[in-house]
Amino acid sequence: MFYEPGRTPHGLPHNPLKAIVSPRPIGWISSLAADGTANLAPYSFFNMVSETPPLVMFTSLGRKDSVANIEATGAFVCNLATLDLIDLVNASSTPLPADESEFAAFGIATAPSRLVEPPRVAASPCALECVYVETLRPRGRDGRETNSHMVIGEVIGVHIADEALVDGRLDIARLHVLARCGYLDYAPVDRLVARPRPKAEPRATD
Ligand SMILES: Cc1cc2nc3c(=O)[nH]c(=O)nc-3n(C[C@H](O)[C@H](O)[C@H](O)COP(=O)(O)O)c2cc1C
Repeated sequence: MFYEPGRTPHGLPHNPLKAIVSPRPIGWISSLAADGTANLAPYSFFNMVSETPPLVMFTSLGRKDSVANIEATGAFVCNLATLDLIDLVNASSTPLPADESEFAAFGIATAPSRLVEPPRVAASPCALECVYVETLRPRGRDGRETNSHMVIGEVIGVHIADEALVDGRLDIARLHVLARCGYLDYAPVDRLVARPRPKAEPRATD
C-alpha cells in the first residue's frame, strides 16, 4: 500500500505512522507547576539532540501541563521508564487537572533532585536533571505552525543507580528499558546485538 499523509486516506483503522517510527525512547518527564504541584507524564516524542552540551527534547502535541510547567519554572527531569514501572508510566499519562499531581494520584514515590527543583521518580534507575532552554514550534512545508511544542533542555545532572551499572556500562537489557511502539504497545529492550564501529574506508587513490 501507499498513501500520502494529509492528501490521501490510509484506509486503515489506525494511523500507521507512529508504528513505523518505532520503537521510540520514552522520556518520563517530571516538572513542577508554578504553584508547586509535581507533575509526571510520559513522552515518546523524546530524544537526545546534542551531545556537547547534552540537550534532550520532548514534543508535546498541544501545550500540555509539562510544557506550561517547564516554561514557567525552568526545569524538568527525564526519568528512565523500565518494564517494572510500566503500569505507573502508563497511569501517569492520565490527563489530570494541572493542580493534581500524578505522583500523589498514582502513589509514585519521589526522590529529590540535586540541581533542579522538580523531583525524580524514586524507583527509576536513571534520571536526567535538565534546565529548560527553549520551546521550538515546528512548521509544516506550507510554513504553517503545527500544534507541536518541542521543549529542549540541557542535562546538568545525571543519576544512575549503582546496580544499573555492570563493568562500568549501563546494563540496558537487564533494566528492561521501555520503548514506545505503535498503537498501545510498549517494548522492553532486553536483547542487544553489538557490532564494532566500522573504521573509515581507505580511499581509492589514482
Ligand atoms: C507511552 C506514552 C507516550 C506518550 N508520548 C506523548 C508524546 O510524545 N507527546 C504527547 O503530546 N503526548 C504523549 N503521550 C500522552 C501524554 O502522556 C498525556 O497527554 C499526558 O496527560 C500529558 O501530561 P501533562 O499534561 O501532565 O504533560 C504519551 C502517552 C504514553 C502512554
